[in-house]
Amino acid sequence: MKRLSVVTAGLLLADGLAVAWAAGLAPIPRACAAGGGMSYSEDVAPVLRGWCVSCHQPGGKGFEKTGLDLRTYEGLMKGTTFGPMVVAGKPDESNLMRLVNGEAKLQMPFEHKPLPACVRQNIWSWIFEGAKNN
Ligand code: HEC
Repeated sequence: MKRLSVVTAGLLLADGLAVAWAAGLAPIPRACAAGGGMSYSEDVAPVLRGWCVSCHQPGGKGFEKTGLDLRTYEGLMKGTTFGPMVVAGKPDESNLMRLVNGEAKLQMPFEHKPLPACVRQNIWSWIFEGAKNN
């Protein structure tokens, strides 16, 4: 059982790297390796840096359209010019989850393949645990 989960994690990680590669975005170091409590700096920020920041920083098309700057925790929590994207403790009410899960009209990353499921689960757990700057 233990062996199987290691293999699965390996496949998911390879999948994550393939997604990033195909999208021309940067792969992330620790995708899907997390266990236990989630950390903004280790589990969330690298995902945003690898898959989102290229468009969500000043000059990027996501930022220009919505004001959402994903370079920092403060930027993520501030949300867009239309409102917050993360509701601490409530991942299912957070637009961020709806967007990365493809449940909204838009899907993020914009015009790219969805994030690997395990990466989305990590973000879900991080929000559930209070969306802390940890
Ligand atoms: C290729 C560029 C690009 C990438 C990569 C990208 N986005 Fe976006 N994002 C956009 C654009 C463009 C919009 C505005 C779309 C619109 O309103 O038509 C947007 C809008 C958003 C919004 C606001 C949606 C709303 O309801 O107003 C959120 C939240 C968001 N992106 C999150 C993310 C996250 C999280 C990632 C990484 C997983 C990401 N984006 C990756 C381009 C991008």
